[in-house]
Amino acid sequence: MNILLIGSGGREHALAWRLSQSPSCDKLFACPGNPGIDEVAELVAIDISDHATVADFCKANAIPFVVVGPEAPLVDGLGDSLRAAGIKVFGPNANAAVLEGSKGFVKDLCARENIPTAAYARHSEKMAALADLARFGVPVVIKADGLAAGKGVIIAETASEARDAIEHMFEGGFGDAGAEVVIEEFMTGEEVSFFAISDGTHVVPFGSAQDHKRVGDGDTGPNTGGMGAYSPAPIFTNTLEAEVMQRIIDPTVKAMARDGCSYSGVFFAGLMLTSEGPKLIEYNCRFGDPECQVLMMRFEGDLVELLLAAATDGGLANVNRPRLSDEYALTVVMAAKGYPGTPEKGGHIRIGNVGAARVFHAGTAVNDSQLVANGGRVLNITALGSSVTDAQAAAYAAVDAIDFPSGFCRRDIGWREVVRERSDAE
Ligand code: AMP
Ligand code: GLY
Repeated sequence: MNILLIGSGGREHALAWRLSQSPSCDKLFACPGNPGIDEVAELVAIDISDHATVADFCKANAIPFVVVGPEAPLVDGLGDSLRAAGIKVFGPNANAAVLEGSKGFVKDLCARENIPTAAYARHSEKMAALADLARFGVPVVIKADGLAAGKGVIIAETASEARDAIEHMFEGGFGDAGAEVVIEEFMTGEEVSFFAISDGTHVVPFGSAQDHKRVGDGDTGPNTGGMGAYSPAPIFTNTLEAEVMQRIIDPTVKAMARDGCSYSGVFFAGLMLTSEGPKLIEYNCRFGDPECQVLMMRFEGDLVELLLAAATDGGLANVNRPRLSDEYALTVVMAAKGYPGTPEKGGHIRIGNVGAARVFHAGTAVNDSQLVANGGRVLNITALGSSVTDAQAAAYAAVDAIDFPSGFCRRDIGWREVVRERSDAE
């Protein structure tokens, strides 16, 4: 069958790579794609906010199945529009993508279903929010309710920082996303990302990962979309996975179906492993970027079959559970200097011999037949190994085969596990 993939990042390059390997994938289209995706798909330039045009393009090109990479088109209802036109979609409808689109919605759902998460309050009025702060103590977490490109979360160490954050949000600092705020109890523990794929009624686990959000070595400096990741997260044991499925994911799937907004697509659950057990930090309605790159590296099987089953009502009952390799995958993000501020554009990139590693493109472009940087996060260098230490060594050996003078990367992706593996060996 012909397939259309929506998106242009490293996540979508990893998805395109696996989709194009499926025996049931005839022609893969990608919108807008990037130079890496161009190697396995035909790139098309259509305005994805114009849903009718996307549906018409699918009809004209005999495309019965669309895979949506990023959250914004899902929250915007692209899934609904394509389904209404008889096209199958991997990714939830808008009334289910609200799991990422409204933090307050998720907190209320957790409260109703008894899903473990931080204590919270929702406020749409500034004075009431300020008055409510005291009972949370500090640190306290202040969140803009809506999508804020990953930036709408402020961890306030003092009461005055918390007040400033609330005022900033209500004054429009995060646009419409901050018209409502959520105040949350601060949780401590180690963070893990967990993925599960649902067809609306069934849900199957799809592995764990940990990422590195800060721009600098040793987890220092400003937050980014993610400077690297590895999978699986060894601290996320099978026992923890079973507990998270039972206490967090299953009740969410059931409640969404019961409430008439059944969720099909991938759950990307941000979890805090607290002393009281795993608690939900947030849901995303898409794969993580760069977490998807390490999951795709480990995925063994037919990605079209799996994602199409998830896009079909009850379809997951008819396919094998997804299998991920027992190996570890690790990805290093090469970014353009300046990121996460204003990145330098146009810097030349030459990719040498990276051996068995894979180079996923994110913000790249081709200018006069020369590969150049065209965004903040530019390349994701991804490798497998029998331990995080081995995968890290393989990924950095590949990084060293890339000539990208105006780029940089962290040199310590996976450090926490490398330290653990070393102390386990002693
Ligand atoms: P989110 O966008 O909701 O994932 O939040 C971004 C980051 O803020 C998370 O990855 C956590 O590191 C942190 N965070 C969010 N909520 C909490 C919380 N209630 N307690 C502690 N840290 C949090
Ligand atoms: N890497 C974090 C995210 O995709 O949201």
